[in-house]
Amino acid sequence: MVARVRTVAFQGVEAIPVDVQVMVAPGKVGMHIVGLPDKAVAESRERVQAALHASGLSMPPKKVTVNLAPADLPKEGSHYDLPIALGLMAALGAVPGDALADYMVLGELSLDGTITAVAGALPAAMGANAQELGLICPADCGSEAAWASGDMPILAPRSLIQIANHFRGTQVMSRPEPAVRAAPDQLPDLAEIKGQIVAKRALEIAAAGGHNLLMVGPPGSGKSMLAQRLPSILPALGARELLEVSMVASIAGELAGGRLSDRRPFRAPHHSASMAAMVGGGLRARPGEVSLAHRGILFLDEFPEFSPVVLDSLRQPLESGESVIARANHRVTYPAKFQLIAAMNPCRCGMAGEPGHSCARGPRCAGEYQSRISAPLMDRIDIRVDVPAVSAADMIRPNPAEPSAVVKQRVERARGLQAERFQAMGLPAATVNAQASAALIETIAAPDEAGARLLRDAAEQMRFSARAYHRILKVARTLADLEGEETVRRIHLAEAISYRIVGERLQAAA
Ligand SMILES: Nc1ncnc2c1ncn2[C@@H]1O[C@H](COP(=O)(O)OP(=O)(O)O)[C@@H](O)[C@H]1O
Ligand SMILES: [Mg+2]
Repeated sequence: MVARVRTVAFQGVEAIPVDVQVMVAPGKVGMHIVGLPDKAVAESRERVQAALHASGLSMPPKKVTVNLAPADLPKEGSHYDLPIALGLMAALGAVPGDALADYMVLGELSLDGTITAVAGALPAAMGANAQELGLICPADCGSEAAWASGDMPILAPRSLIQIANHFRGTQVMSRPEPAVRAAPDQLPDLAEIKGQIVAKRALEIAAAGGHNLLMVGPPGSGKSMLAQRLPSILPALGARELLEVSMVASIAGELAGGRLSDRRPFRAPHHSASMAAMVGGGLRARPGEVSLAHRGILFLDEFPEFSPVVLDSLRQPLESGESVIARANHRVTYPAKFQLIAAMNPCRCGMAGEPGHSCARGPRCAGEYQSRISAPLMDRIDIRVDVPAVSAADMIRPNPAEPSAVVKQRVERARGLQAERFQAMGLPAATVNAQASAALIETIAAPDEAGARLLRDAAEQMRFSARAYHRILKVARTLADLEGEETVRRIHLAEAISYRIVGERLQAAA
């Protein structure tokens, strides 16, 4: 007799249906798993046998064959243990096979028969719900899976015995509740930063329009401090965004306790990060930092210290909003709509350009350091600001600084205007100016007469690339939105161009 249990294989955040077929037949005693299993799946055999034994079920002295269909789809990970064990239990009559037909199943087994957490419960639940099925997942993943839908049946057992008892009707389990991460502790506040008016303004604009930002300044001027305060002025995730972000976190196994949070991700990988860590890949094609930062911030401190290859691998996701990982026989795509915030010293010793300092190695020091950032990557950074050392006067007797809550209100207002505009054009409300297409930005940021003239003159003089031209328009649109103005005017363009110039100067020095 063949028992069937449904489970999934993950391709990116997509859950592809997989059928687990278990056959118990006379023959040489043993258990075989076929259907392109990787090492973790092959080892399932040992865990399943031990877990069944611990749960008081002995393996039949027969030949057990497990087929994972479709056979040409690679199966990776340890979440096949539970569907295989349930299939075997159904084949042995320990659970009713027809009861399992309405569920998708995933989970890992311990040798003692308990069910341990696996990555990907949320996307699996979404996949099950789309097929009008229920989900059986580990207890620790239940609250995460419950987010997929308010009314799909979900069983989140702790052990094989518990699920068997549920189907026998002796111990019925209740549906797990969706969990939210406890109210986040206080985020660091912008008010703690003294001086740096220009950099704070740049941070606000970047937050309002989702623009990429580069801060250049000597050590200790507050660049890292500024970046860490960006989350405190960003609006919370919308309901759809929250699911998108949590799907990636779920696949990466980074949803702590299955709790979701509406706070935007803030990822700050170290500059020794490898390409696989940054854009994804490696074992099981895990999502990289660019995808874990989806709908949030990717902060790269000491920007030029990252390997040039890693930096250039950012170009594709920055442009397309997704990261594509090529595998031997297929490709995996993860969303990667992130906002890049970078910080760097102007040269290796850190003091180039500071009044009263001269670099021991002269201007070459700055040139060599800055040329580590390739021109095409620099081109994708809309706002570049100098963050000079804080003056003694500012440190000792600073002007009162605005708290993050006040800045956040302005950011939210500007984002509200963008949401209205993009929705009216049939785009998702979560779109921000930085993500608008070239054609769209030319319509929604068409400048007035004087603005157009300024832009033309600047483009001719500074030889902007076409990309630079559109990116200036995007920043100008955000500046107008921050003021609540419908038309992009000369003053907005002038400011947007000024943020571009810092970078052009950097390139010229290189
Ligand atoms: N503008 C500032 N206002 C208040 N403290 C500052 C400021 N800039 C730097 N500091 C102090 O200097 C420390 C280092 O700042 P940091 O942001 O790490 O500098 P950077 O990243 O530019 O090298 C901070 O922890 C803070 O104590
Ligand atoms: Mg720093």
